[in-house]
Amino acid sequence: MSSSSPSAAGFESLERETDGESLDVEGTIPEWLSGRLLRTGPAKFEGGDDTYNHWFDGLAMLHRFGLRDGDVSYRNRFLQSGAFEDATAEERIVRSEFGTDPCRSIFGRIMSFFSQKPVDNGNVNVAAYGDAYVSMTETPFPIAFDPDTLKTLGPVPATENPDADMSTAHPFVDRDAGRAINVTLAFGRTSSYGVVERDFASGDRRLLREIETDDPSYLHSFGVTDEYVVLAGFPLVFDTMALLFRSGTFADALEWKPELGTRFWAVRRSDGELAGQWRGPARFGFHHVNAFEVDGELQVDVAAYDDATIVDDLYLDRLRSADTTGPPAGHLERFHLPLDGSSVDVSRCSDTRIELPRIDDRRATRDYRYVWGGGQRNPDNFIDQIVRIDIDSGDAETWHQPGCYPGEPVFVERPDAAGEADGVLLTVVLDAERDSSFLAVLDAESLDEVGRARVPHHIPFQFHGNFYPEETS
Ligand SMILES: [Fe+2]
Repeated sequence: MSSSSPSAAGFESLERETDGESLDVEGTIPEWLSGRLLRTGPAKFEGGDDTYNHWFDGLAMLHRFGLRDGDVSYRNRFLQSGAFEDATAEERIVRSEFGTDPCRSIFGRIMSFFSQKPVDNGNVNVAAYGDAYVSMTETPFPIAFDPDTLKTLGPVPATENPDADMSTAHPFVDRDAGRAINVTLAFGRTSSYGVVERDFASGDRRLLREIETDDPSYLHSFGVTDEYVVLAGFPLVFDTMALLFRSGTFADALEWKPELGTRFWAVRRSDGELAGQWRGPARFGFHHVNAFEVDGELQVDVAAYDDATIVDDLYLDRLRSADTTGPPAGHLERFHLPLDGSSVDVSRCSDTRIELPRIDDRRATRDYRYVWGGGQRNPDNFIDQIVRIDIDSGDAETWHQPGCYPGEPVFVERPDAAGEADGVLLTVVLDAERDSSFLAVLDAESLDEVGRARVPHHIPFQFHGNFYPEETS
């Protein structure tokens, strides 16, 4: 029997739902910091006696940190997805997830993945689609919830593209324009990506571009510049025949084919024209960081890996075990895509590893300087520090505390912020020694901690979330 890793609690179920309790604050939470931090992540790793296999599989829980006048409250609720309701009612895992296949027959698995039982376990990200707050996984079935009570409101009627099989959980949301862009993937003899745009007010969905491919990549996010949507097809690809006709999990149908290189497509946002295609060196990445155009080239920044072993590193038995080293974070790499069609160049922005990257969102689609994310001080550990990479110098600041494991840092700008990075970071940290979690508020420039609010229990590691300032009217 192997012993547990020090951060194993981050991958253990949290059953308790709490109802807006006030948290003890240490230090000072800035009074201007007023609004809600909404996050989602896997929080239940069992269905009856069945167990989920992969970190991506656990049943989604929504978390809400309410900040006002220096006080902090916390509330959490399981997302009442079909996956959650089925597992609860039948006391077993009913619907397929990324690395878990509950079905006894191939036919059953196909039904589970394609249309009959939508994969709707929104444990990856939250977004505000106009007035609707949604929780989403990597399928076109986002579920709306109330941002204050966290009550599940149900599937969003107009989905990203109901005909697609997958859809990223990293839509590009332009709240000012009232629109979101997302990329979908439909499997078939020939598969196709779809670049779709939704208008919140009308609910209209516009298919900007379809791109056919025989080797559909696992696509977790994409890049957006002022003019283009940039798809990076890393060579971790689906064997669609395996997906359709052989037993095994969704993850089992993925193949690493470095000979394909990384394929890029740039789709013009105004009219859907395919403005460029490139093939660069083989890499893998979950997360695009930012993209922008400068001097006749698109610069596309990704938290990149040399191969796709990270996907296997995230099986729960490995993450919980002390016998395996922590899954390494990626490196911030910049892909240079010349608009004249010449060859791709790639450069590494920093030697400091980073994952779950965030930026000052005011710099999205523009040249920028700072990226925050999780990193590793000790390579044996899961993410054990927050890093701030200065792209201009490659240097990094860090925040870390013994026995503490922080999650994605969300940047919030100060009112009337002077410039990029003028604000704070919000990150939910597992304090393993206390077996509880806290919300840390860090100065975004120095990474000095300014305050923390303690939750009386552990919160399993989440993937993503966003801060929504309190509307002032
Ligand atoms: Fe993600």
